[in-house]
Amino acid sequence: ELPAEITIWEVGPRDGLQNEKSVVDVGVKLEFIDRLGQAGLRTIEATSFVHPKWVPQLADAAQLLAGLSKRDGVRYPVLVPNDRGLDRALEAGVSHIAIFASATETFAQRNLNRTLDSQFEMFDPVVTRAREAGLEVRGYLSMCFGDPWEGPVALKQVVSAGQRLLDMGCSQLSLGDTIGVATPGQVEALIAGFSSPDALAVHFHDTYGQALANTLAALQCGVSTVDSSAGGLGGCPYAESATGNLATEDLVWMLDGLGLSHGVDLTKLVATSAWMAGKLGRPSPSRVVQAVFDQ
Ligand code: HMG
Ligand code: MG
Repeated sequence: ELPAEITIWEVGPRDGLQNEKSVVDVGVKLEFIDRLGQAGLRTIEATSFVHPKWVPQLADAAQLLAGLSKRDGVRYPVLVPNDRGLDRALEAGVSHIAIFASATETFAQRNLNRTLDSQFEMFDPVVTRAREAGLEVRGYLSMCFGDPWEGPVALKQVVSAGQRLLDMGCSQLSLGDTIGVATPGQVEALIAGFSSPDALAVHFHDTYGQALANTLAALQCGVSTVDSSAGGLGGCPYAESATGNLATEDLVWMLDGLGLSHGVDLTKLVATSAWMAGKLGRPSPSRVVQAVFDQ
């Protein structure tokens, strides 16, 4: 049986825009976030407090949060890798953060400049301090199914890293297929590796066209939080071959067809992604945006 209500965790302003070649103007980002809220999204990952040299596209994080007019009932989580990032996020008045770990050694090095083990030493004080300050903390785990340098990733290794994030105090664990190689059977097997689907979310990239199939598999296992990106923007600057996230429009179309509630107005969302595609100067890769909006 499928969960009746789905939480869509919108990552377009963060996972989407972090991967753009050009830096999007902060005013455009603010309008994007505002329009996503208007379209009914209730969780909008706004930006990252990472090192500005590592991700210059999101170097305006403090300015963005200062300009954000928060809507009632909408959460605006931000990515935070370390203590310095948490200081900056607290200064900006955030109430929800996400740390982001790697399930593989190579990506831990490339994305965080840490070993697989020492990334947890970096996160531990962040989670403790954040929770003491009353913040909610999500944990991301990347490369759960495959890694561009290491190939397939052992399920036991992924479950063990994910469990460490939950044990550390993350209230939710988002399982990331950073390079979009997973297929539904693998998704079921990984979810079954955890004691319950309740604290799990899924984060699929659509590189091999499997993101929706994988999402359905996760829903069938009882997962009710799904990450997606408006218009299918996205990728990761530190992961070779990571392309767009699951498009929020494609997800909404499937959820509507299944009769699962999610709160998003598809027409407003498509208009937002078409507007954003215009700002970025290229068409949206979302099939639903293409079908509904004559680009
Ligand atoms: P590092 O170079 O090891 O940092 O980078 P450090 O701790 O050695 O510090 C060096 C200097 O940087 C210090 O300054 C720090 O203060 C400063 P100095 O004392 O030399 O003047 N610094 C900072 N400044 C501002 N904000 C900070 C910060 N931290 C240190 N937060 C670090 C380590 C983690 C910072 C770096 O590797 C980094 O920023 N990485 C982020 C990479 C990233 O954002 N990747 C994309 C997000 S992950 C993703 O997309 C996957 C996901 O979508 C899920 C999926 O698809 O799988 C989530
Ligand atoms: Mg991602």
